[in-house]
Amino acid sequence: MHGLEDQTRWSGNTGSMSVQPRHRAIVSAARISPGMRVLDVATGRGEVAVMAALLGAEVHATDISEALLAAAATNARVAGVRVTTSRCDMRELTDLAGRFDRVLGCAALHHLDPEGSRVAVRSAMSILEPGGLALFVEPVENVAWFDFLKHLVPGPNGRPSSLRRKAWSVWAERRDDRWMSDAELLTLWPRARIVGRVGLLQRIKRTPLIEDIDAWLLTHGLGRFAQASVVEYQP
Ligand SMILES: C[S@@+](CC[C@H](N)C(=O)[O-])C[C@H]1O[C@@H](n2cnc3c(N)ncnc32)[C@H](O)[C@@H]1O
Repeated sequence: MHGLEDQTRWSGNTGSMSVQPRHRAIVSAARISPGMRVLDVATGRGEVAVMAALLGAEVHATDISEALLAAAATNARVAGVRVTTSRCDMRELTDLAGRFDRVLGCAALHHLDPEGSRVAVRSAMSILEPGGLALFVEPVENVAWFDFLKHLVPGPNGRPSSLRRKAWSVWAERRDDRWMSDAELLTLWPRARIVGRVGLLQRIKRTPLIEDIDAWLLTHGLGRFAQASVVEYQP
């Protein structure tokens, strides 16, 4: 897994925002109201930070990558909202000044190993205001057969087909993220619960119709097939 010194590997992901279902899911589950102090950790291009700021929150965004922080600041400016930024490892949030009503981490923890994820959640809890909440949404591995099928086909970021055994193991060795499970997310802190889901079908294609079908599936007991779960941690 990679630390602050590895920030250069993220520099390619800069650019304008691309709001994804996971961004919407975490912002809606966070119940943000105007004036709240919100921290978005591992902000990337700043989608969550900007959405929170548009809801009237006072937002600070952190990331390991200066290049992505610059992209997030630009995206906030373009959106006409104020988001302050600083470089910070999500495991060392206590270095930040002040406390927050919400700490949000979107697709963040799966870049850390299991112990690192635990440290990051503990770090988030330590900077909450009384009554504050931390929320994380992560790609999860609840649907192993789906991933098995998907990996037969080459994917983004140079992912080869899993049928090409040698190329697959080189790729798997180099990747610095991993699939987490809901079960793991729920063990990272004693008071944890699932408060939102992102549907499975959106992994294939994202259209309003697919989102509606996903929403129906999720509300009819098929939540365990979610692509991602929003987990809320309470102090
Ligand atoms: C998959 S991107 C998610 C970005 C954004 N939150 C989103 O949902 O689109 C992962 C982000 O984690 C950041 N990151 C990776 N390791 C980190 C660490 N230890 N501390 C802080 N940020 C980290 C990367 O720079 C990158 O911006």
